[in-house]
This record gives sequence, structure tokens and C-alpha cells, in this order.
Amino acid sequence: MPKVERFPMPIPYGWFGVGYGAELKVGDVRPVHYFGRDLVLFRNESGEAGLLDAYCPHLGAHMGHGGQVEGDSLRCPFHHWAFRPDGFCSKIPYAKAFPPRAKREPLAKSYPVTESSGVIWAWYHPDDAAPMFDVIDYPEFTDPAFAEPVKREWRFASNPQEIAENGVDVAHFAYVHAMDAVPEGETDYDGVRRRSVARGHRTIDLPTGERKQLPYSVETVQNGAGQKFTRLSGLVELSLLVIATPVEADDVELRFCFTHPKVEPGSPQEKAIEAAIENTCGQKGVEGDIPIWHNKIHRARPYLCDGDGPILRFRRYFEQFYADGPDGSRLVEAAE
Ligand code: FES
Ligand SMILES: [Fe+2]
Repeated sequence: MPKVERFPMPIPYGWFGVGYGAELKVGDVRPVHYFGRDLVLFRNESGEAGLLDAYCPHLGAHMGHGGQVEGDSLRCPFHHWAFRPDGFCSKIPYAKAFPPRAKREPLAKSYPVTESSGVIWAWYHPDDAAPMFDVIDYPEFTDPAFAEPVKREWRFASNPQEIAENGVDVAHFAYVHAMDAVPEGETDYDGVRRRSVARGHRTIDLPTGERKQLPYSVETVQNGAGQKFTRLSGLVELSLLVIATPVEADDVELRFCFTHPKVEPGSPQEKAIEAAIENTCGQKGVEGDIPIWHNKIHRARPYLCDGDGPILRFRRYFEQFYADGPDGSRLVEAAE
């Protein structure tokens, strides 16, 4: 039986969320697995978050299991070599002469890390190219005038491109998300960023049991493969960070992080916000998409009709995030 290759594309490069800043305290050390790699995430005593390859450059211990923060560094459990977030070795407790190479260059492989919008973002590039653009900061996610963020998380067999393509797949909104009309989107592509505004109507089940038809708009900014911001306006105003992080090329972690201007606890407004979050996450929202994403294949040459959204234009935009080309073409050329 010929094997169906579900996704031809490799892991894209970009900034990817690897956790929430508030959930990684000083001294925390956590084994994580992203970008097809075993990694270790930690926060040193200076408050700086670091992401390193998990396996110690000395004799290969997994530093996420038993590693400890010591000053500005992560100390390996095996022989207590210590590494800073930039990968430089800061200490070898028993070496009489510190190896010259360790003074000159980082021994551990490190990933650039930045924190904004309450998220720890790590830069992944398959060739270790330095960051080529910035994460966009949305200050409402850390603003005390805004509500404590509501966070949801899913993991399934897909990739960031398939998830992001959903936004331009205007035809599915009616069938998967029970929206009454196909929203009209105005879109602007600008380098690594894609902005769009879509307007439509949707039926909302109010907490009172009433059903209401309401106009809404969804504004989105896609910034590279891993960061998307959405502002929903309608019955409520809601900011949403959509964070898609590759675990493997065909395995993805998807985080939704919501906030909104603070409202009176127990007020109808608060109930409407809760309902809007449920709508965005539940069967009428992303949980309607997830079983489709989890089981589908990527059609590189899809059959499309005139009612479909600008799917091919979106794919031309997204292709820039594959260092090896969308079908791994550079790898093939290199192998010839
Ligand atoms: S293996 Fe890490 S210090 Fe030896
Ligand atoms: Fe969808």
C-alpha cells in the first residue's frame, strides 16, 4: 500500500510560544519537546528565561531531568557543568583549566528567547539563522486593567500552516462554524505579516436561552508562522492570541489566550464574554476544526471553486517560512 504523506512541508521557522511567562518561575527547569527536538526551558535567578538543547554537551545528560538553576545558569545534574541562556558554559566545578573553546563559544545549543504579551517566545530556524523579524507585543495581555487571561490548549496531528490557512478558507465558516454568511475579508500581505478584517453575522446562544443574530468582525494579524492575534468585536470585545507551536512536523500544540477590558464580576457582560470564549473554542469554534485538521492531508494542488477564499495567495505568503521550501525541495536538490 503506498503511504499517504499527510504533510509535505517541514517545520517552518519563526517565533513560537513555548510557555507563559507567569508559569515559569525563577528556578523552574522544565523538559519540553518542540521543533522535533528535546529541549530544556528554565528561568535563571536574574529572571531571564533560557531554552537550550536538552542534552548536555559534556556527556549527554538530559538537563531537564534533575538540572537546577544556579545563579544565571542551568546546572547539569551529571557533573555540574553550568550553562547560561546564551549557551555559554559558566562553570566546570572540577576543571583545573577552563577549556579555551568554552571561553570562546557557546557549548550548549541555545535558542533566542523573548517575552512579550505574557508569552515566552523562542526563535526556531532549521539552519540556526538569527531572528529575521520581531514578535509583536500586545500589551493588553499583561495590563492590569485587563482581565486575567483565559487560556486553552490543544495538541493534535497538524502544523501551523494548516491552522493558519483556516482564516482564509472562507467557505468552511458556514459549514463548520454555523455562521450564517460567508464573511468578506479584506486582506493585506506585508512581508512576514498578513492582516485581515472579516465581517459577518453569527447566531449566539445567550445565557438566557435566547438565540440572537449579531454582526461581528474579526481582525487578524499573522506574524510569521507561530503568532497570530485576533480581535473579535460584536457583542463583546475580545483579544485573542493564537499560538501554534510545532512539536514535530506533523504534531502541533495550539494555545488560545484571551483577554478583555475588565468587567463587573457576574454582570451580563461577563456572561457574554464567557459565551464568546466558549463559541470561539467549542464546536462552533476551533474544536469544530480540530478533528478535521487532525485527520486531513495537505492538498498541494487542491480543486477550488469560485466561492473559495484566496487559499493559493495565502500559501504563497506562508511558503516564505520554509527554509527548505514548502515541499522540502532544497533538501532534495542538496541530495542530488
Ligand atoms: S553530562 Fe552534563 S555535566 Fe557531564
Ligand atoms: Fe475554522
